[in-house]
Amino acid sequence: MQELTIALTKGRLAGKTMELFKKAGYTCEELEPGSMERDSRKLIFRNEEQKLNFFLSKGPDVPTYVEYGAADIGIVGSDIIMEERRRAYEVLDLGFGKCRMCVCGPESARELLQHHEMIRVATKYPVIARDYFYNKKNQTVDIIKLNGSVELGPIVQLADVIVDIVETGSTLRENGLDVLEEVCSLSARMIVNQVSMQMKTERIHELISAVRAAL
Ligand code: PRP
Repeated sequence: MQELTIALTKGRLAGKTMELFKKAGYTCEELEPGSMERDSRKLIFRNEEQKLNFFLSKGPDVPTYVEYGAADIGIVGSDIIMEERRRAYEVLDLGFGKCRMCVCGPESARELLQHHEMIRVATKYPVIARDYFYNKKNQTVDIIKLNGSVELGPIVQLADVIVDIVETGSTLRENGLDVLEEVCSLSARMIVNQVSMQMKTERIHELISAVRAAL
């Protein structure tokens, strides 16, 4: 049996992915919640019998591991796929991790989006934000890259609006911000290394079919 290495996005997505993989018949005891390995600082987990390796990494690194073939398969949000623009086949929408990429800000900023004014946009997603404003809206904006807690941007007047993920909307509500425009909807996706797809076709197709059937 050929080995398969799967890169998971650390956090909630990894948990949901392993639940789905379990339903599809791909398990990893070491990754089960409460297992000794899971609670340690260990980063790579193995199912010897099924010749599976799983590792946990930060979302933006998942497409990098997959492009370079360090992982055959990656599970990552479509926001990261769009932002990182790595070479890989996107093969499945897993249907969880659903949220929206939105332009958000105080209600008073809505007007600034109507008149193609030069505005400041804070975001963790400069590629997505630039594409949205420059290519879709033909609006020239100043993009300010942040690494988290982006909602602070408009509050401390660093930026007029933000481009960020909205899931439940509670972060916006608690900070007096609103969704002003929707950029796109997002969800978790499975991506595959292009060479692995050629070299491990049968194993990978089998896994894709089993996971699709378990959705
Ligand atoms: C994400 C996102 C929003 C929040 C949206 O941040 O950037 O801040 O979740 O979720 P909600 O609509 O359910 O409130 P994350 O928790 O990943 O942390 P970060 O802001 O530090 O990136």
